[in-house]
Amino acid sequence: MTTAVLIGAQWGDEGKGKITDYLAEQADVVVRYQGGNNAGHTVIVGEEEFKLHLIPSGILYADKICVIGNGVVVDPQVLLQEIEHLEAKGINTSNLRISSQAHLIMPYHKKIDEVEEERRGAAKIGTTKRGIGPAYMDKFARVGIRIIDLLDKEEFEKLLERNLQEKNHLLNKVYQTEGFSTEEILAEYLSYAEKIRPYVADSSFIINEAINAGKHVLFEGAQGTLLDVDHGTYPYVTSSYPVAGGACIGAGVGPTKISKVVGVVKAYTSRVGEGPFPSELFDETGALIRDIGKEYGTTTGRARRCGWLDAVILKYSVRVSGIDAIALTKLDVLDTLDTIKICTGYEYEGQKITEFPHSLKVLAKCKPIYEELPGWKQDLSSARRYEDLPVNARNYIKRIEELSGAKVAIIAVGPKRTQTIMLEPIF
Ligand code: IMP
Repeated sequence: MTTAVLIGAQWGDEGKGKITDYLAEQADVVVRYQGGNNAGHTVIVGEEEFKLHLIPSGILYADKICVIGNGVVVDPQVLLQEIEHLEAKGINTSNLRISSQAHLIMPYHKKIDEVEEERRGAAKIGTTKRGIGPAYMDKFARVGIRIIDLLDKEEFEKLLERNLQEKNHLLNKVYQTEGFSTEEILAEYLSYAEKIRPYVADSSFIINEAINAGKHVLFEGAQGTLLDVDHGTYPYVTSSYPVAGGACIGAGVGPTKISKVVGVVKAYTSRVGEGPFPSELFDETGALIRDIGKEYGTTTGRARRCGWLDAVILKYSVRVSGIDAIALTKLDVLDTLDTIKICTGYEYEGQKITEFPHSLKVLAKCKPIYEELPGWKQDLSSARRYEDLPVNARNYIKRIEELSGAKVAIIAVGPKRTQTIMLEPIF
C-alpha cells in the first residue's frame, strides 16, 4: 500500500506546506480532505513563494493530480482567485479535481462568522472569519449547498432562497445587521459555476482508482490535532477533523487503504487564536522564536503565540492519529538558543499530569514541567544528512522520539525544498 496521511500534530502552522510539497514529488495524487481557506500553506520553489489556501500544494508539480475532497468547504471566489494566481505564474491547474460533494462557503457564512465573533466578545474563538464554522454548521444541519447543487441552476436557486429566508432573519433580527439579496448572490455564484464546472469530479472514485492501481496518494491535512473539533481544545477549535481519521471521511476512502500517518511537528509550539497553551512563552525567548521563525499567519497575518515543544501534546497526537512517522520542522529556528526546553508533563494542583486533559479549566491551570537540553549553537540551515547535525541537535531529536513514541523520519532545516533531511522513506 502506498498512501500516506500527513497531519499537523500541534495547533496548526507546523510547516505542513513544505513537507507536503516535498513528499508530493514522490506522490501521484495529492488530496485535501478538510477545512477550507482558513488554512495557509507557504511553499518556496526556487526564488518564487506561493501561498496556497485551498488547492493542494502538489499543484506546483506539473504531473500530479490534485484533489479537493468532499470534506473541504469551498469558497468559490477564493478558489478561482487561487486558480488565476497560479495560472498567472505559469502553473497549469488542469490537473485539479474538486469533489461534487464538497460544501460551499456562502457570503452569509462569512458574515455570520464575523458578527458571531463580535457577539462573543471576550469569549471569542479568534476564528479566521472565513465562514468555515458557519459552513460546517449548515452541512451538519443538512441545509448546506454543495458544489453539485451549484452546477444545477434551478436547484441552487431553490436552496439559496430557502437558506436566505432563515439567514436574513437571523442577521436582521438577532444580529441587527443587513442581510443578502437572492439576486445578488445568484448572479455572483452562477458566474463562478461555469468556471468551476470543468474541475468538478467524483473525487472518491478518482482517489480509490489511483490507490487500486498502486499509485502513491498523499492526503494533506490542514490545521492540527488540537484544532480538531472532537480531539482538540474545544471550543477553541476549527469545525472539521484535522486528525488522520478525517482523511477517510473527507476523501471517501476506507481506513484499510491508509498505510502511513506522518505527523508534522514543529521544533517548538505556536498557536493563533484564543485558548490555553501551557508551554507558551511571554518573554524575549518567545519573541525571538516568533521573529526567527517568522511566526505570522499566512491567512490573517496575525502574530502567533510561541512556546516550547510540548511532549504531552505530541504523545496525545501520536495516540489519536496513529502517527508512525514524524516530520520535524523548523529545527534551524532554535539554532541560537543556549538551552532548549521540552515540556514533559503538567503540574495541576500539586499533581503531575502526563496525559492531555480534556477540561479547558484544568488545562488553563496546568503549569509545564520542563526538561532542559543544551542548545547546539550552530547554523543548521546547510545540513543535508543526519550526520551533518551536531550532537546536541541529534539528542533533541532522540528525546522527541522517546517522549512521543514515534520515529522522526524527516527533518526540515529551512523553508527551501533542498533544506530537508530524509531519514526514512514515506512511500
Ligand atoms: P476557524 O477555522 O476560522 O473557524 O478558526 C477556529 C480556530 O482555528 C482559530 O483559533 C483559528 O486561529 C484556528 N485556525 C484555523 N485555521 C488555522 C490554520 O490553518 N492554522 C492555525 N490555526 C488555524
